[in-house]
Amino acid sequence: MSDSKSMDKPLDCPERRNFLEKATAVVGGVGVAGASWPFINSMNPSADVLENAISEVDLKVIEVGQSQTVSWEGKPVFVVHRTPAQIAAMQASKGGPDPQEDTARTQQPEWLVVVGLCTHLGCVPTRDNEGWLCPCHGSRYDNSGRILHGPAPANLPVPPYKIVSSETIIIGVA
Ligand code: FES
Repeated sequence: MSDSKSMDKPLDCPERRNFLEKATAVVGGVGVAGASWPFINSMNPSADVLENAISEVDLKVIEVGQSQTVSWEGKPVFVVHRTPAQIAAMQASKGGPDPQEDTARTQQPEWLVVVGLCTHLGCVPTRDNEGWLCPCHGSRYDNSGRILHGPAPANLPVPPYKIVSSETIIIGVA
């Protein structure tokens, strides 16, 4: 003798059939979700990628007039502690073929942060007192990272970054 209500019902009972269909659908859905999880999870960024997405820069170690190259998303980023003379010269100019105000390229005038890849074909420009010179085809960038002359069509891009204190910049967050 059965004490289950459902077992008391005939096999062709619509209520019982409905229950069995729903139960099958739920079990099937759970199975598909479980089988799909490794695939879905594989599309998440790896720990390396997440680590590279943000780069913290210690400003204390960059003296006035010096620059430091850090890595962000696998690219070099130049962080320059500009001198008062460099700031004044850059604020008095709009650059060359890709004119832009210096104030639009900096959050604080003493700190310039730019991606260090030439906008021509992606070489890494070398630093000098005037800014950067690309060794590949001679593009010249000023101390705001703006293109002055050469085949490069655009200024060095400013990455998203945040000055979180007088000692720290975080690159990769706006
Ligand atoms: Fe820099 Fe060509 S890659 S000038």
